Amino acid sequence: MSELATYLPPASLAASAHVSGMEAYQRLCAEAEADYEGYWARLAREFVEWKTPFTQVLDSSQAPFFRWFADGELNVSYNCLDRQVAAGLGAKTAIIFEADDGQVTTVSYEELLARTCRMANALKSLGVKKGDRVVIYMSMSVEGVVAMQACARIGATHSVVFGGFSAQSLRDRIEDAGAVLVITADEQLRGGKQLPLKSIVDDAIALGGCDSLRQVVVYRRTGGQIAWHADRDRWLHELTEGQPSTCEPEWVGAEHPLFLLYTSGSTGKPKGVQHASGGYLLHAALTTKWTFDLKPDDVFWCTADIGWVTGHTYIAYGPLALGATEVVFEGVPTYPDAARFWKMIERHKVSVFYTAPTAIRSLIKAAESNDAVHPRHSDLSSLRILGSVGEPINPAAWEWYHQHIGGGRCPIVDTFWQTETGGHMITPLPGATPLVPGSCTLPFPGIQAAIVDETGKDVPNGQGGILVVKKPWPSMIRTIWGDPERFKKSYYPADFQGRYYLAGDGAIRDEKTGYFTITGRIDDVLNVSGHRMGTMEIESALVGCTELVAEAAVVGRPDDTTGEAICAFVVLKRPRPSGDEAKAIAKQLRDWVGKEIGPIAKPKDIRFGDNLPKTRSGKIMRRLLRSVAKGEAVTQDTSTLENPAILEQLGQAY
Ligand code: PRX
Repeated sequence: MSELATYLPPASLAASAHVSGMEAYQRLCAEAEADYEGYWARLAREFVEWKTPFTQVLDSSQAPFFRWFADGELNVSYNCLDRQVAAGLGAKTAIIFEADDGQVTTVSYEELLARTCRMANALKSLGVKKGDRVVIYMSMSVEGVVAMQACARIGATHSVVFGGFSAQSLRDRIEDAGAVLVITADEQLRGGKQLPLKSIVDDAIALGGCDSLRQVVVYRRTGGQIAWHADRDRWLHELTEGQPSTCEPEWVGAEHPLFLLYTSGSTGKPKGVQHASGGYLLHAALTTKWTFDLKPDDVFWCTADIGWVTGHTYIAYGPLALGATEVVFEGVPTYPDAARFWKMIERHKVSVFYTAPTAIRSLIKAAESNDAVHPRHSDLSSLRILGSVGEPINPAAWEWYHQHIGGGRCPIVDTFWQTETGGHMITPLPGATPLVPGSCTLPFPGIQAAIVDETGKDVPNGQGGILVVKKPWPSMIRTIWGDPERFKKSYYPADFQGRYYLAGDGAIRDEKTGYFTITGRIDDVLNVSGHRMGTMEIESALVGCTELVAEAAVVGRPDDTTGEAICAFVVLKRPRPSGDEAKAIAKQLRDWVGKEIGPIAKPKDIRFGDNLPKTRSGKIMRRLLRSVAKGEAVTQDTSTLENPAILEQLGQAY
């Protein structure tokens, strides 16, 4: 890695950056090193307005259930909205919303506050109280952000479920969270299509088990036909009409759960990652400011969906906590054509742009095959900083992003983090860190990232190992909702004597620079287009198709566009199919998985076999399946395999 080109921060950017030059970065790291709690306490006072100041910083008495600023009181929505209005930013644009059809509306801080208060009052009128869980199942909209802020305002814990998840997945999350209310929309608009939302909520409830749920609040987005259950469904516009545009915030303790966000683990069902209020808000604001070097005049655009953690931290909370102007986009990057992002950057004079490698790779392909959508036809001169998140960015995509989008002048911050970490963990700072394509460079100041071996011992630079975080940090996951044991086992396993946070990724540090490169998950979690998916989840969806499937194993294989692709090996309850029959069954199974989990979990490849490769003791040999999925010759030892001929069969296309 050290022999690859490094890009220095542009001098003018470095000179005026919040963190200006490597010495400034190192000073911050040294400050945290010298007085860890003092460092975070200083920033917590600077970045968060407290109703009741905290006197305690880190409480490790119940480790690994760490608490931060626990006796402090605050309100997250107050910090994002009222604080800006009080500072004279009421008329400033908070959100530039661009709808799927290109229609643009802007919302000022004053208006966002009023809308949040009206929705908060509406929720209260339905009996929603502090601590209640509210599921938000909406697409990208101002209302989605308002719904999150309104929950925060009244101390309700939101759990946003990505609008692409199926009724079954939604049901599981409503049940696990014990949600009292779902906020949804009649339909969503994506790529010119009207797609269902409310009817999926109806289906989820019809599946049973949502006993905690009392009401469904519906935002009218398209006016499309939907079924109505007068006993539980309420229109959002009717509820908010006439509600006062002020609402006293509910002051909560710093540890009060701000949100749950379900994510995939290596085993079992998705886990509800629980985040606190104070520490989370601190890191959301701090990282938005330092990693993106955000200034008052910037126009920030994070293209993530509010259904993922990136949309929480870098749409719903971080930029607003800083009084920034941000773009919120309803649609998809390829509609009406693959120049949509570039045209939007030009239209809104976006200066900081944050997206995922998958999007970049697919837009590179589009631009290479159709010159009309090439970014050079758009004026991208407003851009100063680019960001990448969610998966490794391959150097070729990095270089293209740098040259064609950033005009060779914009630093790219390759931000490594996770749902569990709440915000950036390892990332360049644009006015300080020399960049190496493909490396997320160095830990954010204060984050004690390290690479260790299986016993928890540090490994030297240049030698790969397991990525850990040695000290707790303010925005870390607090627990898995309802399953503290699983929290401990997943993140503070006994292998490291419960001392370190285990990220679940492998990593390596460069021998000379000490820069980190993430080498991928070390568990059975796949990353498809930056979306996290457990192989076990997909396997259990497949074997849930009891009419057809006897057995299934799922692995990932590298994919040029989506990073990883899902490959499923299936043994049917009928003889192994071929030709058109195999194609038809594969489609049926793909649709089944789409219905069970959501379209993002549909396997790209499905192979059929009479059996799966197993050891004599019956264990599926996944490493062999990974080779078969890649289409490479199996070179591994197959001597323990019960039925070697099966590999050839599974490698065959139909
Ligand atoms: O494997 C890492 C990968 O995404 C995982 C976290 O996924 P999720 O919780 O869905 O959050 C995604 C958005 C923060 C990580 O364990 N990942 C995330 N960012 C990067 C990355 N891998 C390499 N480089 C990154 N910048």
